[in-house]
Amino acid sequence: MKHTIEEMISAAEIDQKLNELAERINAHYENSERLLMVGLLKGSAVFMADLCRRIKGHVEIDFMCVSSYGNAMSSSRDVKILKDVQSDIADRDVLIVEDLIDSGNTLSKVRELLLVREPKSLALCTLLDKPERREVNVHVDFVGFTIPDEFIVGYGIDYAEKYRNLPYIAKVIPQE
Ligand code: PRP
Ligand code: MN
Ligand code: MG
Repeated sequence: MKHTIEEMISAAEIDQKLNELAERINAHYENSERLLMVGLLKGSAVFMADLCRRIKGHVEIDFMCVSSYGNAMSSSRDVKILKDVQSDIADRDVLIVEDLIDSGNTLSKVRELLLVREPKSLALCTLLDKPERREVNVHVDFVGFTIPDEFIVGYGIDYAEKYRNLPYIAKVIPQE
């Protein structure tokens, strides 16, 4: 698709938002012994790198990679684990770190998959939230920006694997 991109959220605005998010997360986990941040690959890699460096105290990081695909026979979606976390999450405070919530399918399935392992607590953090696109209701504890239903890229988020390296978030604008 022929397109152009247009900056929507600057690197400075992201930086400022990460400070606010980290402040809230640090306050929430003040008494936590071993917080585990779990990033969902690939989109969250950039956000995770910047966010975890602002978290105080003992924190560990891990990653999970899932792929979702529609099931023609029903309206529900299956989520396949391509890479699981390496850590044992039982009895840990777990914070899932995601770049973007769209339909909510990815996060709600990951939440279900992790909850059966009986973490001490399980919370969700997303940099971007598109509530207009929600198909599955999922409670998000920490939200960076709530955005309208625009096609966005950058800061880890791709369009056909491109633009993950942009230091800012941009809108994709289709041409003719
Ligand atoms: C994107 C994004 C979220 C997910 C959100 O990931 O990074 O993980 O989609 O969509 P949902 O709320 O409708 O489930 P994608 O599957 O494109 O993989 P990627 O992170 O590797 O780009
Ligand atoms: Mn993703
Ligand atoms: Mg993607």
